[in-house]
Amino acid sequence: MSAPHIIITAGPTIEPIDPVRFLSNHSSGRQGYALAAALAAHGARVTLVSGPVSIEPPAGAELVKVQTALEMRDAVMAALPADAYIGVAAVADWRPATRHASKMKTDKAGFASLQLVENPDILREVSGLTDRRPRLVVGFAAETASDGGALEALARAKLERKGCDLIIANDVSGDAMGGAENSVLIVSRDEVKPIARAHKDVIAAKLGDSVMALLRAPLR
Ligand code: CTP
Ligand code: CA
Repeated sequence: MSAPHIIITAGPTIEPIDPVRFLSNHSSGRQGYALAAALAAHGARVTLVSGPVSIEPPAGAELVKVQTALEMRDAVMAALPADAYIGVAAVADWRPATRHASKMKTDKAGFASLQLVENPDILREVSGLTDRRPRLVVGFAAETASDGGALEALARAKLERKGCDLIIANDVSGDAMGGAENSVLIVSRDEVKPIARAHKDVIAAKLGDSVMALLRAPLR
């Protein structure tokens, strides 16, 4: 098999309110960057579409930097075709309906009436492509679950809703978001595989092995 092309999204997106303020989340980009490095080390051609993060880009991946969810969607679509799509980014679910050209003043009622509109669901759009759908479409799910069973149930619901092939689920009740360690469940339609708590680099290496094994096996 020639080197597979894998598109990975990572980091948060930021959604501007005005020139100095934005909506975002605590994603550090570490898990996505570590996965990009692991897959590049396997010889894959990796396109890493990243929101703003403060970590070094991984060696061997092509980095495409974006700010907003809309820019991330466009960059992903422009990077197709690909053998696999792995959505690790914590895409902001909502964005301000209007981006104010000048700094909003606190003495005006602007903040109390801030209107939000839903961002596109990039993972669902990639999963739903008819002509250019990657052979393997993987989503991440950050959940605050009470236990492993609850986490698996949330992941299965997300798998169906997104139409992807795998969901990598992690419990973000503790410090997983922004922290150095993580533990995950790899959930597909017919199995669930846990990866025990470890440094994100170790988790990424194991996920990279699983993704490469799936790409080498005939799918569907
Ligand atoms: N995702 C995406 N586009 C969005 C929101 C999420 O592509 N607008 C992707 C993420 O990259 C991740 C997966 O969907 O791979 C799950 O993200 P998550 O935030 O856990 O799920 P949501 O569908 O947004 O549901 P919720 O936040 O309500 O749990
Ligand atoms: Ca979300």
